[in-house]
Amino acid sequence: MCGIVGFVSEKEENAGKILFDGLRKLEYRGYDSAGIAVISGDSINLEKEIGTLDDFEAAVDVDELNGKIGISHTRWATHGGVTKLNAHPHVSQDGNIAIVHNGIIENYQELKNDLKGVKFISETDTEVIVALMQKEIDGGNDFFEAFKKVLNKIEGSYAILAINARQPGVMLAAKNESPLILGKALGKMFAASDSMPLLMHTSEVIYLEDGEIAKLMAKSFEVFDLKGNKIAKTISKIETHIESSEKGMYAHFMLKEIMEQPNSLKRSLQQPYGDVEEFAKAISQARGVMLIACGTALHAAIAGQYLLDRIAQKHVNVINASEFSYLQTSLQKNSLVIAISQSGETADVINALKKIKQKGAKVYSIVNVEGSSIARMSDKTIGIKAGPEIGVASTKAFTSQLSILYQIAFALIGKLEEGRKEMDKLSGLARLCLDMNLDKTKALAEKLANKRDIYFIGRGINYPIALEGALKTKEISYLHAEGMAAGELKHGTLALVEKGTPVIAINPNDFVHAETLSNAIETKARGAFVIAISDKNNPVYDELLSIPGASEEFYPILGIIPLQLLAYQLAVVRGKNPDKPRNLAKSVTVK
Ligand code: F6R
Repeated sequence: MCGIVGFVSEKEENAGKILFDGLRKLEYRGYDSAGIAVISGDSINLEKEIGTLDDFEAAVDVDELNGKIGISHTRWATHGGVTKLNAHPHVSQDGNIAIVHNGIIENYQELKNDLKGVKFISETDTEVIVALMQKEIDGGNDFFEAFKKVLNKIEGSYAILAINARQPGVMLAAKNESPLILGKALGKMFAASDSMPLLMHTSEVIYLEDGEIAKLMAKSFEVFDLKGNKIAKTISKIETHIESSEKGMYAHFMLKEIMEQPNSLKRSLQQPYGDVEEFAKAISQARGVMLIACGTALHAAIAGQYLLDRIAQKHVNVINASEFSYLQTSLQKNSLVIAISQSGETADVINALKKIKQKGAKVYSIVNVEGSSIARMSDKTIGIKAGPEIGVASTKAFTSQLSILYQIAFALIGKLEEGRKEMDKLSGLARLCLDMNLDKTKALAEKLANKRDIYFIGRGINYPIALEGALKTKEISYLHAEGMAAGELKHGTLALVEKGTPVIAINPNDFVHAETLSNAIETKARGAFVIAISDKNNPVYDELLSIPGASEEFYPILGIIPLQLLAYQLAVVRGKNPDKPRNLAKSVTVK
């Protein structure tokens, strides 16, 4: 959470514009305030505003911010409320050093106590770093030495960029547990929280690892460890088309990404056979298999548990990454853990994987962002190829994660080729499903817009789809939504169903159809307004969001589509921005 971008160039540039355009690509990481610091002449030119980047743009003329070096930040508040003073960059009291930081400095209170005489103007942990930097420089250290000393004092997670008006040709960067990537272009070096701001300038990137410090000059860079020893780094090439991270004709990224699913599903099938087969082999040889993830990816993992069971008769455990440390005793050297993550940067997953690796278990991963931390720390990784997902609510990544899990299940029974042939039809079916539901969900959203609660029910593999439908709805429309196994209703939640309560039954024509229908009828008997997601209608339903008929095992990929659309339409009808839900950010890089 929080996005940072910085650059250093050999020539004078429209630094404000370069940095602002970079922040635009990272706005999904935080959007409560933003700031830019550029060195102009021999001083730091600082601009900060609270609100989104649109607010920033309205208040600041970025074209006026010229310079050869600058840093910028879009914030998701952790320490200190959303105020201009708490927004980044933070500047030292002498006005010479500016830094941006993504992460949390855990020992900042103790460090603050040692900085007697410094007048702090913000409530942030970050201001302590800049104050320490000034103290080290005042004590006779050069910029790099001061940075290194400060990094050795701070504890916690960070991706930091620092500039110094007294040494304007150098930007310093460091990371621990928060993402940071360097980009090398002609006569310019960049650093950013992910590759998207870099892609506008270069495809050559350098992945910084935890405990590394980078010294960036316009035409060269050096990387060191925290003791100051030089580290050799390789330059990697990344390929993502910039246009795929633009909104195009759509009102919101979320809608664009929902509508992209016919294509992203097709791309998810373009995995080398060997990679999928290696996952299957590792699963069949492992002593125990655990799928680990958070949020939407966790729902994909739960669906994976059902589909691996049904297609390949293989049992896997699923664990929520933030709960992993409390349940890790069964892990052994020959256990296999498969992490699922869109961003590949989720702190809860990364922290769990570190412990898993210490235990000697194998780590495989299914990620969307190539070269992400989770991909890099895995023994083997599969990229889902969904393309950039900018909307905070995960949509196309979910269906592509499911697609990979299906392929692994088919590989486990030696039927990857046949399975893929069947799955090839999913792209067309997804398109049909979108056409069938785009307008219908809009009309339904108008009916549901002022309800208090919505319940989502499903059995078997439709259960994680109920969970995912509820998560999508609550996170962007702010309506209370709860997803559950349909059989669980009568164990408590049914007490909340009264006249008019919307109950959405994910009930395709599969082997649990009749049982879920009975549960829907039970809610109807208590006055519920029953909506079904199905390819088979029934008079009990007040509304039907149709999905096309498909091979039974693939219903989840189609079943989630009307729910994504409905959540989107609910947010829009209720006047909320689906791309930027309050309090949330796309990459959750804090614990
Ligand atoms: C919900 C959503 C989140 C993420 C979760 C994990 O729409 O996007 O619940 O799924 O934060 O993120 P990744 O997949 O990046 O690890």
